Amino acid sequence: MVIPENSSIVIFGASGDLTFRKLIPALYHLYANKQLPASFAILGASRTFYSDESFRDKLRHSMQELEKTDPATLDAFMAHVHYQSFNISDTHEYHHLTERLDALAAQYGFTQRNTLFYLATPPKLYNSIPASLAEHGLNDESTGWKRLVVEKPFGYDLASARQLDKDIHAHFAEHQIYRIDHYLGKETVQNLLVFRFSNAMFEPLWNRNFIDYVEITGAEHLGVEGRGGYYDQSGAVRDMFQNHLLQVLALVAMEPPAQINADAMRDEVFKALQSLEPLSDDDLTNNLVLGQYTESLVGGNALPGYRNEQGVAEDSRTETYVGLKMFINNWRWNGVPFYVRTGKRLPTRVTEVVIHFKQTPHPVFGKNAPENRLVIRIQPDEGIQMSFGLKGKPRC
Ligand code: BG6
Repeated sequence: MVIPENSSIVIFGASGDLTFRKLIPALYHLYANKQLPASFAILGASRTFYSDESFRDKLRHSMQELEKTDPATLDAFMAHVHYQSFNISDTHEYHHLTERLDALAAQYGFTQRNTLFYLATPPKLYNSIPASLAEHGLNDESTGWKRLVVEKPFGYDLASARQLDKDIHAHFAEHQIYRIDHYLGKETVQNLLVFRFSNAMFEPLWNRNFIDYVEITGAEHLGVEGRGGYYDQSGAVRDMFQNHLLQVLALVAMEPPAQINADAMRDEVFKALQSLEPLSDDDLTNNLVLGQYTESLVGGNALPGYRNEQGVAEDSRTETYVGLKMFINNWRWNGVPFYVRTGKRLPTRVTEVVIHFKQTPHPVFGKNAPENRLVIRIQPDEGIQMSFGLKGKPRC
């Protein structure tokens, strides 16, 4: 286990949902597992006003709602959490950040100014924050590493993604930029690779000769949860599909990497994605389903429909559900459909990959004999399940 060097972690957009639901819980677990450095400071930055104490209280409250925490460990962790309120979209206000980082460096006795900047903000700030950081010397690695973590969506389309890449590279070098997909941090997603490439049993079957079709599903109970403003510009395709689900698809479909390291992995993921069959107009008509959730009653509570969520246009046509049948044009997968779907406010919460194997060549026990299925459940109740055809119980 590699413990990072002493450092500060600055979370831009710290008053938002991502910080409360994912980032702080993840950092807490790293802390509880002794995987954070001996000395570290977390600094939330956002326009909303909080003092250190009121920010910690709000985080504590949401952590306790989300999951079980050990009160003493949580208190010790929270002592490392700080907050700086300023307008993060105004470069003239960044002196608040540099001053606060100086004060924290003195407080924690940092000899190196290693700093990670996490952009948990609306995507429209992805260009301006790196520029403001650079203007205040906060990209300068002569005093310690400086890293920038960028969430999806990375651009809106190919042209804007390339432009964003160019804009960020004007201030940060490639080794400083981390384009993150949090699905790749999930144990079961990582396990997909280990499962495929460390068991001799499945790999010979992992191709068009034995597999009939593959389903990849990311179904959520949650609606847009106060993120309507962001989501309405994004939709299920940009929010979940092109990133999380395509990464999972790549891990299911890729060839074994030559080594387990970032470059070798990237090469194989890239090859798998490059082999995806481009979608024709016919595919968009016949193989794509888009939908939007309407109001519902869950456990006696009336929940609003998507168009009534805060920040969502009343006549919005943004999709909250997408299902697409796709093909991968290579020797391994030619002709095998991949059904990939995701949606919000669905009755079941499940993220899973289901591999459906072909029927036996001659179904001696009849056409309705059960198929072999391999279910790789990512969440909840992670695990791997294989179904076989067996004789049923005799009826008395
Ligand atoms: C995020 C999306 O990237 O992933 C959210 O922006 C979605 O809309 C979330 O709810 C799902 O992640 P997880 O880890 O809860 O499955």
